[in-house]
Amino acid sequence: MKEVKKDLAEVLSEKLGVEISEDDIERPEPEHGDFAYPVMQAASELGENPRQLAEETAGELESSDIVNSVDVAGPGYLNFNLKQKIFAERILEVLEDDSFGFEEKDEKALVEFSCPNLAKPMHIGHVRNNCIGDSLQRIMRFVGYDVTSENYIGDWGTKHGQVIYAYRKWGSKEEFDEKPMEHMYSLYVKFHDEADEEDKKKAREWSKKIEEGDEEAVRIWNMFREATIDYSQEEYERMGIEFDRVTGESVVADEAQKVVDEGLEQGVFEEDEDGSVYVDFESEKFPSTVVKRDDGATLYLTRDVANIRKREREGFDYNFYIVANEQDLHFQQLFDLAGRFGITDIHSEHISYGMLRLQEGSMSSSKGNVIRLSEILDKAVEKASEVEHRDVNNAEEVGLGAVKYANLSVSRPKDIEFDWDEVLDFEGDSGPYLQYTNVRAKSILRESDKEGELSGEFEKEEYRLLKKLSQFPEKVGEAARGREPAKIANYLSELCEEFNSFYHSCQVIGVEEKTEKRRLKLVEEFVNVSDEGLELLGIEPLEDM
Ligand code: ARG
Repeated sequence: MKEVKKDLAEVLSEKLGVEISEDDIERPEPEHGDFAYPVMQAASELGENPRQLAEETAGELESSDIVNSVDVAGPGYLNFNLKQKIFAERILEVLEDDSFGFEEKDEKALVEFSCPNLAKPMHIGHVRNNCIGDSLQRIMRFVGYDVTSENYIGDWGTKHGQVIYAYRKWGSKEEFDEKPMEHMYSLYVKFHDEADEEDKKKAREWSKKIEEGDEEAVRIWNMFREATIDYSQEEYERMGIEFDRVTGESVVADEAQKVVDEGLEQGVFEEDEDGSVYVDFESEKFPSTVVKRDDGATLYLTRDVANIRKREREGFDYNFYIVANEQDLHFQQLFDLAGRFGITDIHSEHISYGMLRLQEGSMSSSKGNVIRLSEILDKAVEKASEVEHRDVNNAEEVGLGAVKYANLSVSRPKDIEFDWDEVLDFEGDSGPYLQYTNVRAKSILRESDKEGELSGEFEKEEYRLLKKLSQFPEKVGEAARGREPAKIANYLSELCEEFNSFYHSCQVIGVEEKTEKRRLKLVEEFVNVSDEGLELLGIEPLEDM
């Protein structure tokens, strides 16, 4: 793929005699030029005056086959204006390639996200997680990784004895069959509110029974596990999310026991007087942590160590965890431990992010519980269908798009507070604005019986739109490298603005033929790029709204 930045970097390297990469080429403000290169770094390497070097180089560069003119600005900036026609052809070649110039990599990446816990519905905490996780699996696949997405269910540990115990004491098969999740969750809540010491003791016995493989315990546990997965599955379908595999902490429970034994042998772990096993991070500034309890049960952390080992064995090069920043410490401890166990063939990364809050608070008014994921989606859809002066078709897709955009457009480390009016503002920095602009462009194409074509000279607004379109592959690359969907979300918002100002000043249909075709071409490419960009965010591009 012939990329313009690469070409410019090559020409510059040759002329200046220093190594210059495409990442050194910048995009200046549109009025300054198409591309820019600051020669300051190169000048200091060569021991020359930057301004002078820039001026000398500028003259020589104008003879290159894609450069039209070069201006020198400031202390030593080279601002390039390209031959528009050649530039346009190059851009279209990339944008019309199915993979937008990205090539398949021979690297396997595991993308883990969502990971709800047994017997509990997904809640507000899963909203941003699902949005980021799904977008990242799409982005990583798009740039060429061999991606496996995994939903690692929280299905093991002492808590689960409680639900089983509660089910046997207060529950019924009829109620479970009727509404499995409601029943399991109400038992869970009831246990919390009502269990006395005796109940708690018995619940611990049931946890033990699951670990030991007791027939009844395992049967109920399995039934609950299936029900949890089935219930979540409906929400994933609603959100358009697919996983390549569903696993869980239970899958690595045995391996976690082995990890404990090996850790003791190798001196990574120590045994306490009461028989529990712990790891001392003292030198690493993390608090020391138990990895096996006195009753023999392993912990969340221990199972995660076992799981990294499993993924390394499976041949993954990358291991990405999309988990909220509440667990930053957990992952620091985990990766430190993985290193001590010599698990170094797999690169693990915690893709951390800030909290989502609602202005109205995070407690569900009706039940006093945490707000469920489904409540948030329902509310968004309801609000989308009630937007004033608009008769919105596809309220479901618009509501979901609004939630997704609001969660993705803010850079990961930042917290988000949902203001529903902003989230659904059709004229603001929102999902509906992107979907709407995309739909509007499609309706222009439907109105015309002609095909777009590069013909005639670009006018200013047209050329600005073309340049914005040309940034798409770069932005996707940045999003992948930074594990940051916001790069694409924010880019799309800028692109839509550029499109709208183009459309405002350039009539497309019914003008002189060459102009009409050229403008149609730009509209076609806008549809192409915005469709693809929305897909990468997991937002559905629509045909009408
Ligand atoms: N189930 C856990 C929770 O709800 C999240 C799991 C994150 N993944 C991991 N490998 N630790 O907090």
